[in-house]
Amino acid sequence: MSQTVVVRTIEEMWRLSREARRRGDVVGLVPTMGALHAGHRALIDRAQAECAFTTVTLFVNPTQFNQAEDLAKYPRTFEQDLAMCEEAGVDCLFAPAPEEMYPQPGVTHVEVSELTDGLCGKFRPGHFRGVTTVVAKLFHIAEPDKAYFGEKDFQQLAVIRRMVRDLDFAVEIVGVPIVREFDGLALSSRNARLSGAQREAATVLSRSLRHAAEAVANGEQDAESIRELTLEVIADEPLARPEYVEIVDPETLRPVARVEKEARLVLAAWVGEVRLIDNASLRPA
Ligand code: PAJ
Repeated sequence: MSQTVVVRTIEEMWRLSREARRRGDVVGLVPTMGALHAGHRALIDRAQAECAFTTVTLFVNPTQFNQAEDLAKYPRTFEQDLAMCEEAGVDCLFAPAPEEMYPQPGVTHVEVSELTDGLCGKFRPGHFRGVTTVVAKLFHIAEPDKAYFGEKDFQQLAVIRRMVRDLDFAVEIVGVPIVREFDGLALSSRNARLSGAQREAATVLSRSLRHAAEAVANGEQDAESIRELTLEVIADEPLARPEYVEIVDPETLRPVARVEKEARLVLAAWVGEVRLIDNASLRPA
């Protein structure tokens, strides 16, 4: 187990990253909000495999929460997070206080339009502006060559890819496949808030995605039929309430009418008071 340096200030992070670059190290960045689980670990392991100097960031970013209560309830498990980073051999854990990141309320924002209009953006106003602004700040602070994001948050990944392209950030964005529980449920820090029955019910989401992907592999191309099929599977589970189910182009996130090339089936659903998201690739036969 190696030592992970905990960094609290932007200045120190700049210094360490620049030192690593001067040594010729490929610098990798894994932005997180902590409460690390095996999904985060997959990102960290991928970064470790591809980069000589890896930084994990742990910052529960207040500007991306729509509800104060959601922010207050966000799990904070610093000691365990640090232990995971050490076990994985991470070089640096950047964990700034909110005052370090926002010494005064920001009046400068990074906003990606169009891609944030639909899906989660429609139900979480301001959320993606908070995400892109903080990720842009983290890119400036750590100056990574590569940054790792999970396909679990598919819209977030597409939005960040577009931000990087539009604003010429010198960073390669690496998307990492979704890590799931043995029964298909996508790993999320929110899963811990599900009761036993709700946890069981939540498996309906990945099941519905699987049914849809199979239908597409078997020749179904009509997006509306695939959407209905997905919703029918979810409707079998009375504890799950879908918020949206959409079939979109993986890059533009615009809805497609027919799945003639690879598309993405993305959904959000409530199970009790917990909002869950999941998605899957649809590949035509
Ligand atoms: P957070 O929810 O902590 O997630 C950090 C990263 O882990 C994201 O890229 C997310 O997609 C990935 N991740 C979470 N669960 C995963 C799973 N089951 N499989 C694969 N990857 C998974 O996303 C954020 O934080 C924030 O919005 C952030 C980008 C850090 C900006 O504040």
